[in-house]
Amino acid sequence: MIKVNDKHLLKEMDYAKYESEVKKVHEIIHTKSGPGNDFLGWLDYPTTFDKAEFEQIKKYAKYVRENFEVLVVCGIGGSYLGARAAIEALRGLHSQDKLEVIFFGQTFSSDYTYEVLDYLKNKKFAINVISKSGTTTETSIAFRLLKNLLEQKVGVENARKAIFATTDKEKGALKTLATNEGYPTFVLPSDIGGRYSVFTAVGLFPIACAGLDIDQLMKGALQAQKDTAKPSLKDNEAYKYAVIRYDQKLQQKSVELFVTYEPKLVQLGEWFKQLYGESEGKDGQGLFPTSATFSTDLHSLGQFIQDGSKVLFETILHFEKAKNDVVIPSDEANLDGLNYLAGKNLNYVNEQAYLGTLEAHEKSGHVPNVVLEVEKLDEYHLGYIFYFFMKACAMSAYLLKVNPFNQPGVEIYKKNMFHLLGKKGY
Ligand code: PA5
Repeated sequence: MIKVNDKHLLKEMDYAKYESEVKKVHEIIHTKSGPGNDFLGWLDYPTTFDKAEFEQIKKYAKYVRENFEVLVVCGIGGSYLGARAAIEALRGLHSQDKLEVIFFGQTFSSDYTYEVLDYLKNKKFAINVISKSGTTTETSIAFRLLKNLLEQKVGVENARKAIFATTDKEKGALKTLATNEGYPTFVLPSDIGGRYSVFTAVGLFPIACAGLDIDQLMKGALQAQKDTAKPSLKDNEAYKYAVIRYDQKLQQKSVELFVTYEPKLVQLGEWFKQLYGESEGKDGQGLFPTSATFSTDLHSLGQFIQDGSKVLFETILHFEKAKNDVVIPSDEANLDGLNYLAGKNLNYVNEQAYLGTLEAHEKSGHVPNVVLEVEKLDEYHLGYIFYFFMKACAMSAYLLKVNPFNQPGVEIYKKNMFHLLGKKGY
């Protein structure tokens, strides 16, 4: 389903060198014996997920699709990035679906917040508030504002039928509020962290509301779970990718540039950045994960990649087939000189841009490239891709000897901010 093409890394990968280390880390992951082992619930989740809740998710998603114009997803970090990545990847950037999905609660920007609230004034909207802790400040402020708006518009009773909460099974302020108000509530299992939660209700409910096939998404994830459970490096593409990253780090690369040729995958890049950044960036370790869309960014970042300091390697997520294609028309005057492409498909042009760039970056720029080859982009393949990256990330972080499942560094800004805001105890 995903094939790691390692032919563009400037030098041949010596996998044998890492085989025994990988076997050890595989054991640590699968026996759940490493640091952060109480957050490995995602590992078997495509098999063990709560089937009854899954049916509830589909039932409520149908209700939202039938009764509302807009779904506002209120969450930050792992509590929205997976859903947003999936919805944009699968519906495209200009979806004409009957339900609009808006993401809220991931910023303190008063302009953004004002604009969204103003936009919602005349819309029939439902809310999915998502927070594992139930106390995240961005989400909580946004939800307080949204709830007020909705209650003013439709009254307290009707608002209760339009608010869905996704949170911890037992703890947290959101759980208490949801219970008190009687909101339909989905569970984020306590052994799954935010950035590994796309296959839980955190991702599935908004994705299902967007009219997408979550059965296929989970089937793809299940296939990836099976394929990446193989201990041997030679049989496990996720581990190959993890080892390539590790090898690049040992070769003094400090940045991984995640590249696609699809604008609708910008948010997948954001999801990827959180997954790897929060999982690996600790104890002075990790590659800095960043992302780009080509050919768009070849007209901005391209210069640096080709000729700038040699800090990075590229990871290209490449699809063999496009969902839709466009034929370039002929033009009698041919003033733009494009008739040599008349009758050609645009995806063919995108493909030649990919091949030309790969060669330019590898051969002239001396930038290592790893290509992750996927047949096509649909629910099934996206489920596979999400799981593949999560498994590779666990392997990659453990190779660096860091805990992939905590994020102690994100607390420091919060403490300072709370102090400045005058919160009690700070
Ligand atoms: O991956 C993580 O754990 C974080 O990014 C969280 O998802 C994010 O901080 C939001 O937290 P919460 O779901 O508790 O509101």
